[in-house]
Amino acid sequence: MPESTEPITPKAIDPIKYTIFYGTFIHTPTLSNLEINLFTLVGIDQNGTIDFIYKNNNQITNEDELKKTFIRKRNESNNNKIELQDITFINYSKDLSKFFFPGFIDTHIHASQYPNIGVGLGVPLLDWLKEYTYPVENEFSSPVTKFEFAKLIYSKVIARTLSNGTTCASYFTTIDLDTTKLFADLLLTYGQRGFVGKVCMDHNDVYEEYEESESDCIQSMNELINYCNEINPKSENLIKPIITPRFAPVCSSSLLNTLGSMSKKYNLPIQTHISENLEEIKLVKKLFPESEGYAEVYNEAGLLNNRTILAHAIHLTKKESNLISEKQCSISHCPTSNTFISSGEAPIYKYLNKYNINVSLGTDVSGGFDSSILQMIKFSILVSHHLSMKKNKSTDEEEDVRLSLSTALYMATMGGAKAVGLQDKIGSFDIGKKFDAQLIDLSSKNSNIDIFNWHIPNFKDNEEENFKKIKDLLGKWVFSGDDRNTTKVWCNGRLVIDKS
Ligand code: GUN
Ligand code: FE
Repeated sequence: MPESTEPITPKAIDPIKYTIFYGTFIHTPTLSNLEINLFTLVGIDQNGTIDFIYKNNNQITNEDELKKTFIRKRNESNNNKIELQDITFINYSKDLSKFFFPGFIDTHIHASQYPNIGVGLGVPLLDWLKEYTYPVENEFSSPVTKFEFAKLIYSKVIARTLSNGTTCASYFTTIDLDTTKLFADLLLTYGQRGFVGKVCMDHNDVYEEYEESESDCIQSMNELINYCNEINPKSENLIKPIITPRFAPVCSSSLLNTLGSMSKKYNLPIQTHISENLEEIKLVKKLFPESEGYAEVYNEAGLLNNRTILAHAIHLTKKESNLISEKQCSISHCPTSNTFISSGEAPIYKYLNKYNINVSLGTDVSGGFDSSILQMIKFSILVSHHLSMKKNKSTDEEEDVRLSLSTALYMATMGGAKAVGLQDKIGSFDIGKKFDAQLIDLSSKNSNIDIFNWHIPNFKDNEEENFKKIKDLLGKWVFSGDDRNTTKVWCNGRLVIDKS
């Protein structure tokens, strides 16, 4: 089999030296907290784990003195001592238009649909699936060409998302096992953390050549679980299989139930689509007349729990929202896809604040036309502004439903980490977490952003002034930046993208 002919060298476990990064670190450890740490030192150990954080509040300017202070403070609280000669010191503190941000987490993306980006504007979901999506996914089952095709597409999508700062993603591939294994290999080769979702679907009336039997699906899933266990480096969460019933209309009750049991048996996360489009919801009602609603179909199959990612969730009823909240599922909000194929505007403010549901962001390539989570941050805010402008003033909903920049940044990082069950490992800069990060340079070569000198914080300004300046810079990054500003990307402490 082609995927096993070459041994895989996982990029995110390359040997590394203890490294201290010095500069500005920005993150959103909680939904309401945008934390900006200027002049901060973060030590990353040989496992790629954040080992110590020292905020240089006394603003020591001598680099040698700073290194020694870091080591002394760090060694006071750690028996496993480090010495000056053990460390690499990298200083980004001199240029305040550069900052570190946690790697983005894309909680909903179809790797196999990558070649269709930008195609199918405004075609409603069920027609879009039949005309554009099932045909491209079916190419990955073609006996003669599938490996070459899959290698081309899957390499591109991983490289592109990494280059946009996505250090972890929850992917859908296709129903094909061989090329899904190849996809898992490529994640390790490129050094992106990823959830590998072999699509499961056993009754596709509108495109019958693209479906599988329940027994084939289960056999493939068992093989995939074993394969990922074999190739995943021990003691690291780099790749993991994820149970992926595509969506209720293409799955029998029996398959849904079996997948629910499988996720329990192997303690695996789950991802699927829900309530994206009104015709789709009608179809679910017709196909599952015994169930009260769409969310109930999944719940009855044991598919709703705190490791479930539900993509779209645009038209949920109150009852479904309560059920999803009670089961502690996460929503993956896909604002560009929802707009591109005219599915609707998901009421994210309400899910976050009224129902306390964890919300993350998904590019949903290729329903979504952009593989960058930075763009999802932007569009999630813009869609919420549209919802707010349309709001019926006569209803009792008086709250401002616009999402703040900080909320959207949270959804892109910590919200995503929670959705994929890695909230203790990634999503923010904390001791004990993995260093999955990106270096943002707002003045990078060919940047689309023009920064003027009064925008940049400086030593003379007080903390409050600098905080405001950085918030404005974050606005510039989100609304006019792009991958050219993501100049370096680390996954598991390893540099996996370097554009300098
Ligand atoms: N619902 C079922 N399959 C899909 C898909 O591939 N993309 C989107 N956006 N919705 C779906
Ligand atoms: Fe999708």
